[in-house]
Amino acid sequence: MEVLILPTPEEVGRVAADRITSVVRAKPGAVLGLATGSSPQAIYAELARRVRDGSLDLALTRAFALDEYVGLPVDHPQSYAAVIARDVVGPLGMDPQRVRVPDGLSEDVERTTAEYELAIARAGGIDIQLLGIGANGHIGFNEPTSSLASRTRIKTLAPQTRADNARFFASLDEVPMHCITQGLGTILDARELLLVAQGEGKADAVAHAVEGPVSSMWPASALQLHPHATVILDEPAASRL
Ligand code: GLP
Repeated sequence: MEVLILPTPEEVGRVAADRITSVVRAKPGAVLGLATGSSPQAIYAELARRVRDGSLDLALTRAFALDEYVGLPVDHPQSYAAVIARDVVGPLGMDPQRVRVPDGLSEDVERTTAEYELAIARAGGIDIQLLGIGANGHIGFNEPTSSLASRTRIKTLAPQTRADNARFFASLDEVPMHCITQGLGTILDARELLLVAQGEGKADAVAHAVEGPVSSMWPASALQLHPHATVILDEPAASRL
């Protein structure tokens, strides 16, 4: 695992954007794994700048989102389908037909999750998977105790995750109880992993992920099993290493 510690959150975004840029320049039809939440925002902003100035073209690039809430209408502003369309697909000039988000409204979740796995495999697998990290060490929505071999499936959100994400909703009650997330095994299948974290609130989770034992209690520690994982941190997020 490569760990980079940078002076500012903007630098974290720029260096992570460099990695994605080099993957896409080498392979315009590359398959990206997309994360939501605040952590990757600086990366998307930097990638959008490069698309606007013509130094990067993502029109042929394909993508799969990590996760989605269960039960939110697609046009709810906090559904990850809406977030990905608004914050990623539009600003990055991607083709919406080439970007998939798990269907959180499916009436046959088992089939939906199996199809999502199949779609990733048919696309040739994920070239570079972007990841944030929850304060409890989750990646995607793989909460503590998630199996290290898990695949895309429905999960119950941890109370802490619902509380952390309540800032995006009018109240805690509006935060869904369940989600669909790529599994830890699915994430580990990506050819390259790029985890970004900013701020002291992530320092404990980062320390467990990078230096702790590999454990389902700290799902991000699964990155230690991957041959090509990079963790990019600002100084507060790295403060307990
Ligand atoms: C969210 C997402 C994760 C994200 C994490 C951290 O709930 N499902 O993919 O990485 O929690 O969020 P943030 O970056 O906003 O701190």
